[in-house]
Amino acid sequence: LPINVVENQLVGAKIMAGIIADIIKKKQAEGKMAVLGLATGSSPIKIYQELVRLHKEEGLSFKNVITFNLDEYYPMSPEDAQSYVYFMHKHLFNHIDILPENVNIPDGSLKIEDVSAFCNAYEDKIDEVGGIDIQVLGIGRSGHIGFNEPGSTVNSTTRLVKLDSITISDAIKDFGDEKLVPHRAITMGVGTILKAKKIVLAGWGKGKSAILKEMIEGPVSPDVPASFLQLHKDVSVYLDAPATTEFT
Ligand code: F6R
Repeated sequence: LPINVVENQLVGAKIMAGIIADIIKKKQAEGKMAVLGLATGSSPIKIYQELVRLHKEEGLSFKNVITFNLDEYYPMSPEDAQSYVYFMHKHLFNHIDILPENVNIPDGSLKIEDVSAFCNAYEDKIDEVGGIDIQVLGIGRSGHIGFNEPGSTVNSTTRLVKLDSITISDAIKDFGDEKLVPHRAITMGVGTILKAKKIVLAGWGKGKSAILKEMIEGPVSPDVPASFLQLHKDVSVYLDAPATTEFT
């Protein structure tokens, strides 16, 4: 996997936002929609800050952008402050000119009997708009991308999953109490992610170093779902120096 070690998170985020902006502008020039796959969590926050800055200060428009988020907790109301719907609006959508109908985020408020049809429709919708042009990823300490926890297979698609115990304990900081952390989520599959034409992954900080080493240097295995990225032909990994402390 091609690794770029950057001076700090801000520098890396600006590079990643620049790559996304170039795709949006290229599509715009061709009169086409750009399809972005987006992540939540701490890793992409500065990327979104830079995209907002490019919109406000440099006239970057999102009118020709369609987005698909990777995942959402289940069960989860979109109005809940812990929801990924809330996160995305707070950090990105409220500050740009994207059309609301072009925003897609898995619906954590569905009745359980409606989840599987929703997941199939989510896959179909991605295909119908021509597939994801660029997918933004973080990595979880369990080895997940999206919420594809250990055991996820290479051809998995959008589905309801159980969260790994590491993921649940890492989410306590957001929910305040372990009892409040949902134990399930709806996530794009590994196969869904690998279908993206281009993938960029952000890994910041010492806490991610051990799992990043496995993702990059380890065998391709469902034990570390992020290792499946080794099978994709256009992945760029952006790391700060602390994220490389465990590397050889
Ligand atoms: C979020 C997602 C997750 C996160 C990962 C890292 O939509 O899909 O895979 O990217 O859990 O989270 P942070 O960035 O908060 O360390």
